[in-house]
Amino acid sequence: MRLSVQKVKALEGKIAVPGDKSISHRAVMLGAISQGTTRISGFLQAEDCLSTIRCLHGLGVPINIENGLVVVEGQGLQGLTEPQEVLDVGNSGTTLRLLAGILAGQSFTSFLTGDSTIRRRPMARVAEPLRKMGAVILGRAGGNLAPLAIQGGSLQPLVYQSPVASAQVKSAILLAGLYTEDWTEVIEPHLSRNHTELMLKAFGAEVKTASNHEGKAVVSVRGLPSLKGQDVYVPGDISSAAYFMVAGAIVPEAKIVLTGVGLNPTRNGIIEVLQAMGAKLQISAVQETAGELSATITVESSSLKGITIGGDIIPRLIDEIPVIAVASAFAEGITEIRDAAELKVKESNRISTIAEGLSRLGAKVEELPDGLRIYGGRRLRGDICQSYHDHRIAMSLAIAGLCAQGETIIEGAESIAISFPQFEELLQQLTQSDSIKR
Ligand code: S3P
Repeated sequence: MRLSVQKVKALEGKIAVPGDKSISHRAVMLGAISQGTTRISGFLQAEDCLSTIRCLHGLGVPINIENGLVVVEGQGLQGLTEPQEVLDVGNSGTTLRLLAGILAGQSFTSFLTGDSTIRRRPMARVAEPLRKMGAVILGRAGGNLAPLAIQGGSLQPLVYQSPVASAQVKSAILLAGLYTEDWTEVIEPHLSRNHTELMLKAFGAEVKTASNHEGKAVVSVRGLPSLKGQDVYVPGDISSAAYFMVAGAIVPEAKIVLTGVGLNPTRNGIIEVLQAMGAKLQISAVQETAGELSATITVESSSLKGITIGGDIIPRLIDEIPVIAVASAFAEGITEIRDAAELKVKESNRISTIAEGLSRLGAKVEELPDGLRIYGGRRLRGDICQSYHDHRIAMSLAIAGLCAQGETIIEGAESIAISFPQFEELLQQLTQSDSIKR
């Protein structure tokens, strides 16, 4: 599917972005292995999270969606049943890697696969520590690529120094740790998003977080907890709000109010970066539910300047780097993004795909081994760009199109439904014109 975006002069309005993808995945998974019913409001009904529900159905968990409320009938830690079919995670790395942790602790064998993107993404980062805990995991390319076969069994606790700051790796190990008789600990080079640890606590597990003598983030969970079903409220996804924060900052006459946006400190790096670039961005009406913060964000047209981004802020904005690159193309001066080699193993190699897309529109972008250098301030003009079936590349290029002369066409825009099916409709609403078309 092609998305056509025309240059716009103004954006105005108040919108609520849909629920957080990471929190939605975790809420149904923890609900599934708890005792009793879990009711989730604000659940993200997008392809990725629906893939998690489909896999949990395959594992015998009744889950229903009633008027937007997701109701999970928990089966307890040991209550999942052997799936009759291969579990298909679609495009969702979070589904595959987190489920791998849960499946490692089961007394049966499961097979997991996904779309062509998923089958190219590295899985050894979860398979290796799970093998150390006692699971048997086979996969293509020496056990690194899906399809994976996971033969669960009785697991040993693990103390694991993760080479990457990855919430998916950390979460897979913590979830497997639930199936051991002692404490399992994960040490990360920088703190990655902490939704798993917050939600495990809310469901009744014992979780400890600290930073060690080297300043590294340490989290541990005690095995065999009695998890109890909960009422979970999912705040709006800051990664989805990010497209509108950037749009509001770069479109000449804009004022956008975004309500109920999740502001977990492990996810809010985009706000610090945009403010450092000079964006007029205000936060109000801050609330807290089960350890997760949310707030209203107001953004207005701004004059942006280039900055340098790197170090421990990177995991706090990893999914927003494509749209930060777009903001940088409209900023005065050079923006350099470093320490972000993880972008190469996302839904696409985001260092190359965003550099290619922005270059097509006339921006000057250099690919670096661990990031990007963007020379801002050039006038962009519409052209045909490829999303490479990566939802975040498709949406980032659509935002660039709002400020590029003429028409920008994004190929493969159906991928947007992976995380944000309402994206076009909300953007259309803010432009109050027909500048966005399929
Ligand atoms: C996610 C963690 C991040 C992020 C992904 C969602 C999660 O991936 O990029 O979109 O929900 O745990 P990594 O753990 O690979 O960094």
